[in-house]
Amino acid sequence: MKVTVGVSGGIAAYKAAELVRALQQHALDVHVVMTEAAKQFVQPLTFSALTGHKVISSLWVEGDAEPEADLASAIEHIDAAQTTDALVVAPATASTLAKFAHGIADDFLSTLYLATTAPVIVAPSMNVNMWQHAATQANVETLAGRHVRIVPPGSGYLACGMTGEGRLAETGAIVEAVLASLNHRNDLSGETVLITAGGTREALDPVRFLGNRSSGKMGYALAEAAERRGAKVVLITAPTALRAPARCEVVPVITTAEMRHAVLGHFGDASIVIKAAAVADYRPVEQAEQKMKRTGPLSIQLEPTEDILAEVVSRRRAGQLIVGFAAETENAVVYGRDKLLRKGADAIVLNDVSREGVGFDSDRNAVTFLTRDKAHDFPEMRKRDLADRILDEILALRRPHAKLVTETDRVFEG
Ligand code: CTP
Repeated sequence: MKVTVGVSGGIAAYKAAELVRALQQHALDVHVVMTEAAKQFVQPLTFSALTGHKVISSLWVEGDAEPEADLASAIEHIDAAQTTDALVVAPATASTLAKFAHGIADDFLSTLYLATTAPVIVAPSMNVNMWQHAATQANVETLAGRHVRIVPPGSGYLACGMTGEGRLAETGAIVEAVLASLNHRNDLSGETVLITAGGTREALDPVRFLGNRSSGKMGYALAEAAERRGAKVVLITAPTALRAPARCEVVPVITTAEMRHAVLGHFGDASIVIKAAAVADYRPVEQAEQKMKRTGPLSIQLEPTEDILAEVVSRRRAGQLIVGFAAETENAVVYGRDKLLRKGADAIVLNDVSREGVGFDSDRNAVTFLTRDKAHDFPEMRKRDLADRILDEILALRRPHAKLVTETDRVFEG
């Protein structure tokens, strides 16, 4: 998950380096945004060295730049707002709080605050009189009313020589507030979620294989989301280019047979099974021991692989939820529903892969969540947001009577 640390210009700016480190210890990908004033206290280099990412402080390219470069930079920066999972501002000065409260977007940090929909946490730090001033208190109240999480300053000796309230809160308290904002739900605590991801590969010879276009992004997003919501996650993954999600048990496999073996080995402990992998339906009957040479026309004889999902369903124990995925290029709902009934899963997450810009290899997706009695369409969104929505639907399967049918749901008869 990505967290943006906003550093504004107070003497406590140096403490943001410790905060960055502490957040990284929770496997968070930390990016830093600084105000111009903050750069008077700490060099951006400190933060770029700690995070491995460029520090952003201006909406524009530094120095004289072509308009195109400025535009590209502005777009890149707005992208930063859309991709962060939380914005934490520490230290937040009186001026930063005032800008946030009044919607003034005159630098990158204040623009980011307005542009992001992620949770925002602010840790104010300033002189005691500035903190206690009615204007500052009113701004804090306004922000709290807009669901900004405030980590109040502590009391003590202040850099200005005075004693009182205004010291930046302890790093631990700020980290806790960030984690609480990210883990707003803990509704999978006590669950073991088994997820398959990626596309299995069936070798033709030592260098070639039959594969598919699955990137594994949806399965990995589900694994991260389930872990964040408190689940113990086992991720059985065919090859992908993705980084293993933190705190998940990751079991790498290549072929369908290996995936089957791993799934059956871990299936017993799982309370929820999500089969997001694109599994090869066929494998070559024979695999050449040496690299095949180009000769004339070539036919390859294939045999069907085991249907892991169907096998898991046939061995399920009471209370286990089993959810499959289906990628279809035509008649998606009809084929998807047929698959759901044929395989006996509790639900199928249906991808219509004929749509442009979503699905395979994209960071975005639009799916239909199919159960025996209805189809719920999710509009296009980031796979990581979709992962949470899919998990919500899966948990709702446990309480069918509490589930509302929304206006857009299509209800199946019989
Ligand atoms: N699946 C599986 N084992 C297979 C093939 C598919 O477990 N050998 C699972 C996938 O992980 C997915 C679901 O079954 O959750 C549907 O996969 P899909 O390839 O769409 O279904 P198929 O059964 O292969 O049907 P078809 O290719 O005919 O559409």
